[in-house]
Amino acid sequence: MSSPLITIVDTERVPEAAAATIEEILRDAVRRRGRASLALAGGRTPQPVYRRLAELPVPWERVSLYFGDERAVPPDDPRSNFRMVRETLLDRLPSPPEAVHRMEAERGDRDRAAEDYAVLLPEKLDLLLLGIGEDGHTASLFPGSPALGERARRVVPALAPTPPHRLTITPPVIAQARETLVIAIGAPKSAPLRCALAEAGDEHVCPARLARSGRWFLDREAAGGL
Ligand code: 6PG
Repeated sequence: MSSPLITIVDTERVPEAAAATIEEILRDAVRRRGRASLALAGGRTPQPVYRRLAELPVPWERVSLYFGDERAVPPDDPRSNFRMVRETLLDRLPSPPEAVHRMEAERGDRDRAAEDYAVLLPEKLDLLLLGIGEDGHTASLFPGSPALGERARRVVPALAPTPPHRLTITPPVIAQARETLVIAIGAPKSAPLRCALAEAGDEHVCPARLARSGRWFLDREAAGGL
């Protein structure tokens, strides 16, 4: 497995550094294949990255947007990853992409919602953005989750340590992505990063290891323990 590509910068430079690389990867995908597929991370960390990304000349008309996970809440709920992306990225674009595929995690039948989303996903995402939780989770793949053993289904319902529960992509989707990019900011992420980036480790204990061979954008506080 290839080594992680780690970029460590001052906290205030992370959004610019990560957004520039995202733009570069998307442009390369469009050059090679005519379109680009981008799956977005949720949570707080990516928000300034998305605001910066909205300022860059990304060919959004050629980008299809997906989500790596979603909470089981309506799209206008403050906890919704879709709402966060709408506010920090989509609403800031002069012409947002037409192909925005929201995960309908609020549906009563989350198994069916997972299946319906899985068929929308491309075989290989050009770029998958991920975060890392203080427990080492990524997307909504939490330590000890049965979803970590999933090899057939590409999207599954997931129980979070505290509700709302989720829909999440599974390990095969992470493995098949052409590029993964993990963003982590702040001292609370230093311990899970040590676990995720160590030479050896267990993905069931530290699910973010699933993205170990990808790109990592860290501030100095998060990288402190490396
Ligand atoms: C979510 C995310 C999740 C997130 C981590 C880190 O739905 O919350 O997909 O995997 O990336 O929990 O969250 P923060 O960026 O808020 O620390």
